Amino acid sequence: MSTNSRPDRSFQATAFDGFVQGLKGVWREDLYAKVVEEARATGANGVPDLESAMAGSPQYAVYAWLERFTQQMSLLGRWGMYQELEPQMDKLSAQLDEAAQQHPERLNLDPDLPLPAYLTEAEIHQYSGGLWESDMGGYALEGRTEKSSFSLLEPDKPLAWYAEYIRDNFAPSRIFDLGCARARGTRAMKRAMPDVEIHGCDLCGPVLRLAHLRNLEENLAITLWQRNAEDTGFDAADFDLVTSHWLIHEMPPAAVRKMIAEGWRLLKPGGTFAMYDMYVTPGGVIGEWLHAGYAARNNEPFAYPVAKMDLKAELETVGFVDAQVALSGLQATPEAVRGELPDCRIHYMSVITGRKPAES
Ligand SMILES: C[S@@+](CC[C@H](N)C(=O)[O-])C[C@H]1O[C@@H](n2cnc3c(N)ncnc32)[C@H](O)[C@@H]1O
Repeated sequence: MSTNSRPDRSFQATAFDGFVQGLKGVWREDLYAKVVEEARATGANGVPDLESAMAGSPQYAVYAWLERFTQQMSLLGRWGMYQELEPQMDKLSAQLDEAAQQHPERLNLDPDLPLPAYLTEAEIHQYSGGLWESDMGGYALEGRTEKSSFSLLEPDKPLAWYAEYIRDNFAPSRIFDLGCARARGTRAMKRAMPDVEIHGCDLCGPVLRLAHLRNLEENLAITLWQRNAEDTGFDAADFDLVTSHWLIHEMPPAAVRKMIAEGWRLLKPGGTFAMYDMYVTPGGVIGEWLHAGYAARNNEPFAYPVAKMDLKAELETVGFVDAQVALSGLQATPEAVRGELPDCRIHYMSVITGRKPAES
């Protein structure tokens, strides 16, 4: 494969990225601390009450503005990802076409797969055109999330931690990663478990094309499928671990329920279903309010309803046993374990697991 398959980024755009990261730092630390202090002083005890009590706060207005618009700045506008990527797309798409010729058995696309409205209508994360429409969405996602994430300043760390957690606790031999997008989490699992057979699926063909290119570049044999996690079409009882990273917060609760039922169907008896996502929001009503606000401002309409689901009960309803919800060990600071707010604005990641009984 070509060794220079990353999009070019001009000096000015790189400098602008630094400026946006600086703004995010002010938002994440200073403004967050001030907003939390003010929110505590209101004494409000419900999310709507807290939102009304904070409505007149200039600091909250700036916090909320930066939360929404630093994301937009990194994508849209003069130095955003889209502006820089557009003139390069012919070359980048040709590169994806070339990659698709190599190990074609590992890239199984279905251009006729029906896409649910929750994917196509929300412009999740403010990605104009989303990840399903063209190759550009995948590159924009890659360019933005490689720099930083809301969960940790080093975005690959949680995925590496999770891959090792899966390996050390469940020792799977055949894994299905639902909603794999550009296969960042899937590759982390393959690196941690090189001998394990790993499949990934996503609704969006273009982002799977980019995943395939990156898999080839790392020489990681991962098989990708354009399928719906709610109904994959795979045989029943064919995997011993079915997982998702950063998927469920992008699905409406009814779709999450269907995906859990599909996970049950796909698993062999004794297999594990595991979801890794932002779910638990430590910090009581303030933590919940910050999460609800984030979800609204970053166009993630299902992140708050999913955080309100009782996922342990959902797993048990389907038949899973030993259902557990835990904070990611990587981030389980003493404050988080005590249920307190973190000292800067991050999303805590949760690991939600259940086992299909051996006798089922
Ligand atoms: C935040 S990304 C996932 C990130 C990825 N797992 C990783 O580790 O980098 C969410 C992905 O879920 C996909 N998705 C949403 N609903 C889906 C569904 N019902 N079935 C399969 N993929 C879905 C979207 O197309 C998107 O690519």
